[in-house]
Amino acid sequence: MLITVCLSQTRTEPWVEGLRAALPEADVDAWEPGAPQADHAVVWAPPQAFIDEQANLRGLFNIGAGVDALLKLALPPAIRVVRLDDAGMSVQMAEYVCHALIRHFREFDFYEAEAREGRWAFRKPREREDFAVGVMGLGVLGERVARAVAQFEFPVNGWSRSPRAVEGLRCYAGEDEFDAFLSASRVLVNLLPLTESTRGILDRRNLSQLNRGEPGGYLINVARGAHLAEADLIPLLDSGQLAGATLDVFEVEPLPPDHPFWRHPKITVTPHGSARTMREASIAQIAGKIRAMERGEPVAGVVDLLRGY
Ligand code: NAP
Ligand code: GLV
Repeated sequence: MLITVCLSQTRTEPWVEGLRAALPEADVDAWEPGAPQADHAVVWAPPQAFIDEQANLRGLFNIGAGVDALLKLALPPAIRVVRLDDAGMSVQMAEYVCHALIRHFREFDFYEAEAREGRWAFRKPREREDFAVGVMGLGVLGERVARAVAQFEFPVNGWSRSPRAVEGLRCYAGEDEFDAFLSASRVLVNLLPLTESTRGILDRRNLSQLNRGEPGGYLINVARGAHLAEADLIPLLDSGQLAGATLDVFEVEPLPPDHPFWRHPKITVTPHGSARTMREASIAQIAGKIRAMERGEPVAGVVDLLRGY
Protein backbone atom coordinates (compact mmCIF):
# COMPACT_ATOMS: atom_id res chain seq x y z
CA MET A 1 0.00 0.00 0.00
CA LEU A 2 1.38 3.41 -0.98
CA ILE A 3 0.37 6.60 0.83
CA THR A 4 1.27 10.01 -0.50
CA VAL A 5 1.25 13.21 1.57
CA CYS A 6 0.48 16.60 -0.03
CA LEU A 7 0.08 19.47 2.42
CA SER A 8 0.02 23.18 1.77
CA GLN A 9 0.76 25.68 4.57
CA THR A 10 2.04 22.84 6.77
CA ARG A 11 5.41 21.13 7.17
CA THR A 12 5.11 17.77 5.41
CA GLU A 13 8.04 15.88 6.92
CA PRO A 14 6.62 15.35 10.45
CA TRP A 15 3.42 13.96 8.89
CA VAL A 16 5.38 11.56 6.66
CA GLU A 17 7.42 10.35 9.64
CA GLY A 18 4.34 10.03 11.86
CA LEU A 19 2.39 8.10 9.23
CA ARG A 20 5.37 5.78 8.61
CA ALA A 21 5.48 4.99 12.33
CA ALA A 22 1.69 4.51 12.56
CA LEU A 23 1.43 2.38 9.38
CA PRO A 24 4.64 0.31 9.17
CA GLU A 25 2.97 -1.98 6.60
CA ALA A 26 2.67 0.97 4.13
CA ASP A 27 5.12 2.99 2.06
CA VAL A 28 4.60 6.66 2.89
CA ASP A 29 6.17 9.49 0.90
CA ALA A 30 5.79 13.22 0.36
CA TRP A 31 4.19 13.89 -3.02
CA GLU A 32 6.11 15.56 -5.79
CA PRO A 33 5.16 15.84 -9.46
CA GLY A 34 5.75 12.52 -11.22
CA ALA A 35 5.59 10.47 -7.97
CA PRO A 36 4.28 6.85 -8.24
CA GLN A 37 0.52 6.27 -8.06
CA ALA A 38 -0.63 5.99 -4.44
CA ASP A 39 -3.62 4.17 -2.92
CA HIS A 40 -4.44 6.86 -0.34
CA ALA A 41 -3.47 10.48 0.16
CA VAL A 42 -3.20 12.64 3.26
CA VAL A 43 -3.85 16.20 2.17
CA TRP A 44 -4.53 19.83 3.01
CA ALA A 45 -5.59 22.11 0.13
CA PRO A 46 -3.65 20.19 -2.55
CA PRO A 47 -3.33 21.63 -6.08
CA GLN A 48 -5.50 20.31 -8.92
CA ALA A 49 -2.29 18.94 -10.51
CA PHE A 50 -1.98 16.52 -7.58
CA ILE A 51 -5.49 15.12 -8.11
CA ASP A 52 -5.00 14.93 -11.87
CA GLU A 53 -1.75 12.98 -11.52
CA GLN A 54 -2.84 10.64 -8.72
CA ALA A 55 -5.55 8.82 -10.65
CA ASN A 56 -5.64 5.63 -8.52
CA LEU A 57 -6.47 7.17 -5.14
CA ARG A 58 -9.21 5.41 -3.18
CA GLY A 59 -9.12 7.62 -0.09
CA LEU A 60 -8.36 11.32 0.29
CA PHE A 61 -7.78 12.05 3.97
CA ASN A 62 -8.10 15.72 4.87
CA ILE A 63 -6.04 16.91 7.87
CA GLY A 64 -8.82 19.32 8.89
CA ALA A 65 -12.55 19.22 9.55
CA GLY A 66 -13.56 21.61 6.74
CA VAL A 67 -13.32 20.21 3.22
CA ASP A 68 -14.25 23.34 1.24
CA ALA A 69 -10.72 23.73 -0.21
CA LEU A 70 -10.80 20.10 -1.39
CA LEU A 71 -14.27 20.25 -2.89
CA LYS A 72 -13.24 23.21 -5.07
CA LEU A 73 -11.13 20.73 -7.04
CA ALA A 74 -12.39 18.46 -9.82
CA LEU A 75 -12.36 15.09 -8.01
CA PRO A 76 -12.90 11.63 -9.52
CA PRO A 77 -16.49 10.62 -8.55
CA ALA A 78 -15.48 7.31 -6.92
CA ILE A 79 -12.90 8.78 -4.54
CA ARG A 80 -13.77 8.81 -0.85
CA VAL A 81 -13.02 12.13 0.85
CA VAL A 82 -12.64 11.72 4.61
CA ARG A 83 -12.60 14.66 7.04
CA LEU A 84 -11.00 14.72 10.48
CA ASP A 85 -13.53 13.75 13.10
CA ASP A 86 -12.70 15.91 16.10
CA ALA A 87 -9.21 14.51 16.84
CA GLY A 88 -8.79 17.05 19.64
CA MET A 89 -10.50 19.96 17.88
CA SER A 90 -13.86 20.10 19.62
CA VAL A 91 -12.43 20.80 23.07
CA GLN A 92 -10.34 23.66 21.63
CA MET A 93 -13.37 25.08 19.86
CA ALA A 94 -15.39 24.88 23.08
CA GLU A 95 -12.62 26.74 24.95
CA TYR A 96 -12.39 29.42 22.29
CA VAL A 97 -16.12 30.09 22.03
CA CYS A 98 -16.68 30.05 25.80
CA HIS A 99 -13.77 32.46 26.20
CA ALA A 100 -15.11 34.89 23.57
CA LEU A 101 -18.66 34.67 24.91
CA ILE A 102 -17.68 35.16 28.56
CA ARG A 103 -15.21 37.93 27.71
CA HIS A 104 -18.07 39.81 26.07
CA PHE A 105 -20.80 38.91 28.60
CA ARG A 106 -18.64 39.77 31.65
CA GLU A 107 -17.29 42.94 29.97
CA PHE A 108 -13.63 42.05 30.46
CA ASP A 109 -12.63 44.68 27.86
CA PHE A 110 -14.03 47.32 30.20
CA TYR A 111 -12.31 45.87 33.28
CA GLU A 112 -8.97 45.58 31.48
CA ALA A 113 -9.17 49.21 30.34
CA GLU A 114 -10.06 50.32 33.87
CA ALA A 115 -7.24 48.24 35.38
CA ARG A 116 -4.73 49.86 33.03
CA GLU A 117 -5.75 53.21 34.56
CA GLY A 118 -5.56 51.81 38.11
CA ARG A 119 -9.33 52.21 38.61
CA TRP A 120 -11.42 49.92 40.89
CA ALA A 121 -14.75 50.05 39.05
CA PHE A 122 -17.86 47.90 38.75
CA ARG A 123 -20.51 47.43 36.10
CA LYS A 124 -24.05 46.33 36.81
CA PRO A 125 -24.13 42.54 36.40
CA ARG A 126 -25.87 41.37 33.24
CA GLU A 127 -28.52 38.64 33.19
CA ARG A 128 -27.46 35.54 31.27
CA GLU A 129 -31.11 34.97 30.31
CA ASP A 130 -30.65 38.07 28.12
CA PHE A 131 -27.69 36.49 26.31
CA ALA A 132 -29.15 33.52 24.47
CA VAL A 133 -26.45 31.88 22.36
CA GLY A 134 -27.30 30.54 18.90
CA VAL A 135 -24.98 27.91 17.45
CA MET A 136 -25.19 27.51 13.67
CA GLY A 137 -24.21 23.94 12.83
CA LEU A 138 -24.69 21.10 15.30
CA GLY A 139 -22.06 18.75 13.93
CA VAL A 140 -18.92 17.42 15.56
CA LEU A 141 -17.78 20.88 16.68
CA GLY A 142 -21.08 22.77 17.01
CA GLU A 143 -22.71 20.27 19.32
CA ARG A 144 -19.67 20.19 21.62
CA VAL A 145 -19.59 24.00 21.71
CA ALA A 146 -23.33 24.23 22.40
CA ARG A 147 -23.06 21.76 25.28
CA ALA A 148 -20.09 23.64 26.76
CA VAL A 149 -21.95 26.97 26.59
CA ALA A 150 -25.03 25.38 28.20
CA GLN A 151 -22.82 24.37 31.17
CA PHE A 152 -22.56 28.09 31.98
CA GLU A 153 -26.37 28.24 32.06
CA PHE A 154 -26.81 30.51 29.06
CA PRO A 155 -29.95 29.71 27.07
CA VAL A 156 -28.68 27.88 23.95
CA ASN A 157 -30.32 27.56 20.53
CA GLY A 158 -28.97 25.31 17.79
CA TRP A 159 -29.59 25.33 14.05
CA SER A 160 -28.86 22.50 11.65
CA ARG A 161 -29.95 21.35 8.20
CA SER A 162 -31.86 18.29 9.42
CA PRO A 163 -33.87 18.26 12.67
CA ARG A 164 -31.76 17.40 15.74
CA ALA A 165 -32.57 16.85 19.40
CA VAL A 166 -29.79 17.78 21.83
CA GLU A 167 -30.47 17.85 25.55
CA GLY A 168 -30.36 21.36 27.00
CA LEU A 169 -30.72 23.07 23.59
CA ARG A 170 -33.64 24.52 21.75
CA CYS A 171 -33.12 23.10 18.27
CA TYR A 172 -34.18 24.69 14.99
CA ALA A 173 -33.72 23.17 11.55
CA GLY A 174 -33.71 24.22 7.93
CA GLU A 175 -34.39 27.48 6.16
CA ASP A 176 -38.00 27.64 7.43
CA GLU A 177 -36.83 27.95 11.04
CA PHE A 178 -33.76 30.11 10.41
CA ASP A 179 -35.34 33.49 11.12
CA ALA A 180 -36.90 32.26 14.36
CA PHE A 181 -33.51 30.86 15.41
CA LEU A 182 -31.74 34.17 14.69
CA SER A 183 -34.35 36.25 16.42
CA ALA A 184 -34.20 34.09 19.57
CA SER A 185 -30.38 34.35 19.74
CA ARG A 186 -28.25 37.28 20.88
CA VAL A 187 -24.75 35.83 20.52
CA LEU A 188 -24.34 33.99 17.22
CA VAL A 189 -21.66 31.30 16.85
CA ASN A 190 -20.98 30.08 13.32
CA LEU A 191 -19.88 26.46 12.98
CA LEU A 192 -21.34 25.63 9.59
CA PRO A 193 -19.35 24.06 6.77
CA LEU A 194 -18.74 26.36 3.82
CA THR A 195 -21.05 25.18 1.02
CA GLU A 196 -23.07 26.85 -1.71
CA SER A 197 -26.00 27.06 0.76
CA THR A 198 -24.01 28.71 3.54
CA ARG A 199 -21.64 31.09 1.69
CA GLY A 200 -22.37 34.70 2.74
CA ILE A 201 -24.98 33.60 5.30
CA LEU A 202 -23.66 36.10 7.87
CA ASP A 203 -24.95 39.16 6.04
CA ARG A 204 -26.66 42.38 7.04
CA ARG A 205 -30.16 40.93 6.72
CA ASN A 206 -29.47 37.91 8.90
CA LEU A 207 -27.22 39.58 11.48
CA SER A 208 -29.82 42.34 11.95
CA GLN A 209 -32.33 39.77 13.18
CA LEU A 210 -30.29 38.78 16.24
CA ASN A 211 -31.67 39.70 19.64
CA ARG A 212 -35.24 40.04 18.28
CA GLY A 213 -33.99 42.76 15.97
CA GLU A 214 -32.88 44.93 18.90
CA PRO A 215 -29.33 46.36 19.09
CA GLY A 216 -26.69 44.39 21.01
CA GLY A 217 -26.14 41.18 19.05
CA TYR A 218 -22.66 39.65 19.01
CA LEU A 219 -20.96 37.48 16.36
CA ILE A 220 -18.38 34.72 16.86
CA ASN A 221 -17.24 33.37 13.48
CA VAL A 222 -15.02 30.32 13.78
CA ALA A 223 -16.00 28.42 10.63
CA ARG A 224 -14.92 30.09 7.38
CA GLY A 225 -14.33 33.70 6.34
CA ALA A 226 -16.57 33.37 3.29
CA HIS A 227 -19.58 32.81 5.55
CA LEU A 228 -19.40 36.50 6.44
CA ALA A 229 -20.33 39.27 4.03
CA GLU A 230 -17.34 41.26 5.30
CA ALA A 231 -18.52 44.63 3.96
CA ASP A 232 -21.73 44.34 6.05
CA LEU A 233 -20.02 43.94 9.42
CA ILE A 234 -18.52 47.34 10.20
CA PRO A 235 -21.73 49.33 9.46
CA LEU A 236 -23.63 46.98 11.82
CA LEU A 237 -21.02 47.55 14.54
CA ASP A 238 -20.82 51.29 14.01
CA SER A 239 -24.60 51.66 14.22
CA GLY A 240 -24.68 49.61 17.45
CA GLN A 241 -26.91 46.93 15.93
CA LEU A 242 -24.05 44.58 16.76
CA ALA A 243 -22.10 45.13 19.98
CA GLY A 244 -19.00 43.31 18.78
CA ALA A 245 -17.49 40.40 16.90
CA THR A 246 -14.80 37.81 17.49
CA LEU A 247 -13.43 36.56 14.18
CA ASP A 248 -11.02 33.67 13.68
CA VAL A 249 -11.48 33.22 9.93
CA PHE A 250 -11.43 35.63 6.99
CA GLU A 251 -12.19 35.83 3.30
CA VAL A 252 -8.45 36.36 2.64
CA GLU A 253 -5.96 34.68 5.00
CA PRO A 254 -3.61 35.83 6.39
CA LEU A 255 -5.79 38.90 7.00
CA PRO A 256 -4.03 41.70 5.05
CA PRO A 257 -2.22 44.22 7.34
CA ASP A 258 -4.37 47.13 6.12
CA HIS A 259 -7.70 45.32 6.65
CA PRO A 260 -10.01 47.47 8.82
CA PHE A 261 -10.94 44.47 11.02
CA TRP A 262 -7.49 44.58 12.67
CA ARG A 263 -8.04 47.99 14.21
CA HIS A 264 -11.80 48.19 14.77
CA PRO A 265 -12.41 48.63 18.53
CA LYS A 266 -15.36 46.21 18.54
CA ILE A 267 -13.62 43.41 16.62
CA THR A 268 -11.29 40.80 18.09
CA VAL A 269 -9.14 39.04 15.48
CA THR A 270 -7.34 35.71 15.91
CA PRO A 271 -5.31 33.99 13.15
CA HIS A 272 -7.48 30.96 12.23
CA GLY A 273 -6.39 28.98 15.25
CA SER A 274 -9.57 28.43 17.26
CA ALA A 275 -9.19 24.66 16.77
CA ARG A 276 -5.80 23.54 15.50
CA THR A 277 -5.11 20.16 13.94
CA MET A 278 -3.37 18.03 16.58
CA ARG A 279 -0.84 16.06 14.58
CA GLU A 280 -0.44 12.94 16.72
CA ALA A 281 -4.17 12.43 17.33
CA SER A 282 -4.89 13.10 13.66
CA ILE A 283 -2.28 10.64 12.41
CA ALA A 284 -3.67 7.96 14.76
CA GLN A 285 -7.20 8.62 13.49
CA ILE A 286 -6.20 8.63 9.81
CA ALA A 287 -4.10 5.46 10.20
CA GLY A 288 -7.08 3.70 11.82
CA LYS A 289 -9.37 4.79 9.00
CA ILE A 290 -6.94 3.71 6.26
CA ARG A 291 -6.68 0.28 7.84
CA ALA A 292 -10.49 0.04 8.17
CA MET A 293 -10.93 1.08 4.53
CA GLU A 294 -8.40 -1.54 3.43
CA ARG A 295 -10.37 -4.20 5.33
CA GLY A 296 -13.55 -3.03 3.60
CA GLU A 297 -15.08 -1.75 6.84
CA PRO A 298 -17.13 1.44 7.16
CA VAL A 299 -15.23 4.62 7.98
CA ALA A 300 -16.58 7.61 9.92
CA GLY A 301 -16.33 11.12 8.48
CA VAL A 302 -16.77 10.27 4.78
CA VAL A 303 -17.89 13.48 3.06
CA ASP A 304 -21.07 13.55 1.01
CA LEU A 305 -19.74 15.20 -2.16
CA LEU A 306 -23.18 16.38 -3.28
CA ARG A 307 -24.09 17.92 0.10
CA GLY A 308 -20.60 19.48 0.33
CA TYR A 309 -19.73 18.42 3.89
P1 NAP B 1 -19.90 18.85 10.63
O1 NAP B 1 -19.70 17.80 11.65
O2 NAP B 1 -19.93 18.46 9.20
O3 NAP B 1 -21.25 19.62 11.01
C1 NAP B 1 -21.85 20.53 10.17
C2 NAP B 1 -23.16 21.02 10.77
O4 NAP B 1 -23.65 22.08 9.96
C3 NAP B 1 -24.25 19.94 10.80
O5 NAP B 1 -25.01 20.06 11.98
C4 NAP B 1 -25.10 20.30 9.58
O6 NAP B 1 -26.47 19.93 9.68
C5 NAP B 1 -25.01 21.80 9.60
N1 NAP B 1 -25.30 22.35 8.28
C6 NAP B 1 -24.67 22.15 7.10
N2 NAP B 1 -25.26 22.82 6.10
C7 NAP B 1 -26.30 23.48 6.65
C8 NAP B 1 -27.30 24.34 6.14
N3 NAP B 1 -27.36 24.65 4.85
N4 NAP B 1 -28.21 24.82 7.00
C9 NAP B 1 -28.19 24.51 8.31
N5 NAP B 1 -27.26 23.69 8.87
C10 NAP B 1 -26.33 23.19 8.04
O7 NAP B 1 -18.76 19.97 10.76
P2 NAP B 1 -17.80 20.26 12.01
O8 NAP B 1 -16.77 19.21 12.17
O9 NAP B 1 -18.65 20.57 13.19
O10 NAP B 1 -17.06 21.59 11.50
C11 NAP B 1 -17.76 22.74 11.10
C12 NAP B 1 -16.83 23.71 10.38
O11 NAP B 1 -15.94 24.32 11.29
C13 NAP B 1 -15.89 23.08 9.34
O12 NAP B 1 -16.56 22.83 8.13
C14 NAP B 1 -14.81 24.13 9.21
O13 NAP B 1 -15.15 25.04 8.19
C15 NAP B 1 -14.84 24.85 10.56
N6 NAP B 1 -13.60 24.65 11.34
C16 NAP B 1 -12.89 25.76 11.68
C17 NAP B 1 -11.75 25.60 12.45
C18 NAP B 1 -10.95 26.79 12.89
O14 NAP B 1 -9.85 26.64 13.43
N7 NAP B 1 -11.45 27.99 12.74
C19 NAP B 1 -11.34 24.32 12.83
C20 NAP B 1 -12.09 23.25 12.45
C21 NAP B 1 -13.23 23.42 11.70
P3 NAP B 1 -26.92 18.38 9.78
O15 NAP B 1 -26.62 17.99 11.21
O16 NAP B 1 -28.36 18.41 9.49
O17 NAP B 1 -26.09 17.62 8.77
C1 GLV C 1 -9.67 24.15 10.06
O1 GLV C 1 -10.08 25.22 9.72
C2 GLV C 1 -10.32 22.91 9.76
O2 GLV C 1 -11.24 22.90 8.93
O3 GLV C 1 -9.94 21.89 10.34
